[in-house]
Amino acid sequence: MSSNHQLKSAIESLSATKTPPADARRVFLEFRSALTRGEIRAAQKVNGAWAVNTWVKQGILLGFRLGEMKEMSDGEVLNFVDKDTFPARRVVLADRIRLVPGGSSIREGAYVAPSVICMPPMFINVGAYVDEGSMIDSHALVGSCAQIGKRVHLSAAAQVGGVLEPVNATPVIIEDDVLIGGNCGVYEGTLVGARAVLGSGTILTRSTPLYDLVRGEIYRSSAEHPLTVPENAVVVPGSRAVKKGKGKSDEWNLSLYTPVIVKYRDEKTDSGIELEDWLR
Ligand SMILES: CC(C)(COP(=O)(O)OP(=O)(O)OC[C@H]1O[C@@H](n2cnc3c(N)ncnc32)[C@H](O)[C@@H]1OP(=O)(O)O)[C@@H](O)C(=O)NCCC(=O)NCCS
Repeated sequence: MSSNHQLKSAIESLSATKTPPADARRVFLEFRSALTRGEIRAAQKVNGAWAVNTWVKQGILLGFRLGEMKEMSDGEVLNFVDKDTFPARRVVLADRIRLVPGGSSIREGAYVAPSVICMPPMFINVGAYVDEGSMIDSHALVGSCAQIGKRVHLSAAAQVGGVLEPVNATPVIIEDDVLIGGNCGVYEGTLVGARAVLGSGTILTRSTPLYDLVRGEIYRSSAEHPLTVPENAVVVPGSRAVKKGKGKSDEWNLSLYTPVIVKYRDEKTDSGIELEDWLR
């Protein structure tokens, strides 16, 4: 088995070739297994800051190039057609993941830690990393390369977008102990700091300004940095007036959706979002 360092150089050189050689598939499968085992990640925290592992994203893209369309049927009724390089994972008891019956799917190349609970239907895409004690609720999406920390609750229908390209773009990152409320959408590399709470229906993208009522600041993404939700922030969906003098704004009196930090997490928030231990 190759070391991560060897895998990295093999993937980088294969990504650079127009016509991958015959053993490219073997290298890719080794790479995909390391991803599934959580030994390599699309992004990780180094000295307190998140860094993208560009080569890991290149490896995933290589898998799409190498893959061939295949029928992946399971019995008479369920039938899927996809690239053969990214089949669904077969979860076994030894994985210690609770995969509740009802139509969920975890792709090969996604790491899901022991003790994670997956409520149906949910989908965890390739390159995603879901750490211990997290709960992925019904109709939730963990998009490609998204990094989900420990004890995160991704509530029903919460969507965590995938970021595959460009390869140097940071994926969506949800740090430890975050609650993402029902129907939230977190996209385009947004970073949600530890213990933050997104009230249901909050949408965050690179273009969304985030208004902090407590600290009196407005957070925005920049070319180098994604939108970042501060640790412990409680964010709810709000609205703001359209800037005066902008087109028809004065006449129409419209407002635009905007997320607002209404407070920082306190005991009331904790008691409101507490989950029963025995449910785990
Ligand atoms: C954010 C949330 C956790 C509330 O946190 P909290 O700390 O108890 O918040 P508070 O009740 O102290 O509210 C603080 C302020 O925000 C407002 N607020 C709270 N939640 C809000 C929401 N979802 N939308 C708009 N405003 C909200 C409150 O009215 C209050 O403002 P006010 O003082 O002007 O009245 C809760 O609203 C929420 O969305 N929980 C997630 C529910 C969910 O999706 N569960 C999924 C289970 S599958």
